Amino acid sequence: MYSSRSLQTPLVALLLLLLVPTGPAGALSDDEKRVMVELHNHYRAQANPPAANMLQMTWDEDLAAFAKAYAQQCVWGHNSQRGRRGENLFAITDQGLDVPLAVEEWHHERKHYNLSNTTCEPDQMCGHYTQVVWAKTERIGCGTHFCEKLKGVEVTDIQLLVCNYEPPGNVKGQKPYQEGTPCSQCPSGYHCKNSLCELIRGPEIQDVSDLVTEMSSPLATEASDSRKTGAEGPGKSVSSSGLNSGLGHKWGPLLELLILLPLVLAGIF
Ligand SMILES: *[C@@H]1O[C@H](CO)[C@@H](O)[C@H](O)[C@H]1NC(C)=O
Ligand SMILES: *[C@@H]1O[C@H](CO)[C@@H](O)[C@H](O)[C@H]1NC(C)=O
Repeated sequence: MYSSRSLQTPLVALLLLLLVPTGPAGALSDDEKRVMVELHNHYRAQANPPAANMLQMTWDEDLAAFAKAYAQQCVWGHNSQRGRRGENLFAITDQGLDVPLAVEEWHHERKHYNLSNTTCEPDQMCGHYTQVVWAKTERIGCGTHFCEKLKGVEVTDIQLLVCNYEPPGNVKGQKPYQEGTPCSQCPSGYHCKNSLCELIRGPEIQDVSDLVTEMSSPLATEASDSRKTGAEGPGKSVSSSGLNSGLGHKWGPLLELLILLPLVLAGIF
């Protein structure tokens, strides 16, 4: 099997996004949830070219439970039962879950993606990136599990992270987002907050000042759209190029971490 330093393996090519080491329960800590959501919204607000219709993402416990159940199966591959949910994966050995690294790895595919003609460079993956910045996706939930054996790849003792998204991104034939002045195309019922379209909550909540809704509960809005869900990005084969290049710009400490990392899997689309 893979020693902790076997970076040569083709597995490195697979880039999944995983999180920080968590307990066997597989639930993310409140801190990890917050960071996960904040980093997604950070990248969404910073989309370049700017996005006119980017919705704010919020944490969804139902999605998190769904993701956790799948993570516990320890499979390196997408959940065929995910239905109308987007999905990003990440896996990391030894160090345990690292939420910022996971999101960074996903977002890093941006450099391979051309928004103008919605193409991904040959032999690269872009589907994780496009899910992260998919304008209409507004809910995320993730789960993690320590896998003594990860099916699909011959890897042992690895922390698997699964994130599911609703509505799903990567709908074939659609752009991740509409270019334009931030918030210039927010749907009705949303207002602009930090360059993202935030759902306007009912007045009954806004008026009750002593009702602290800091961690807003998941919206009960069932997405009623009937778009078909490709849920799949361009079917790129995995390549290892994403691992060593370009990771140092924002997360200095993470670069170090990554170098120490025996194996990071990010991806599959
Ligand atoms: C993206 O694609 C468009 C259309 O083919 C092209 O004009 C543009 O130069 C490309 N951008 C980059 C960064 O390659
Ligand atoms: C999109 O743009 C890229 C970068 O300029 C180019 O390599 C690719 O051929 C273009 N694809 C299409 C379908 O125009």
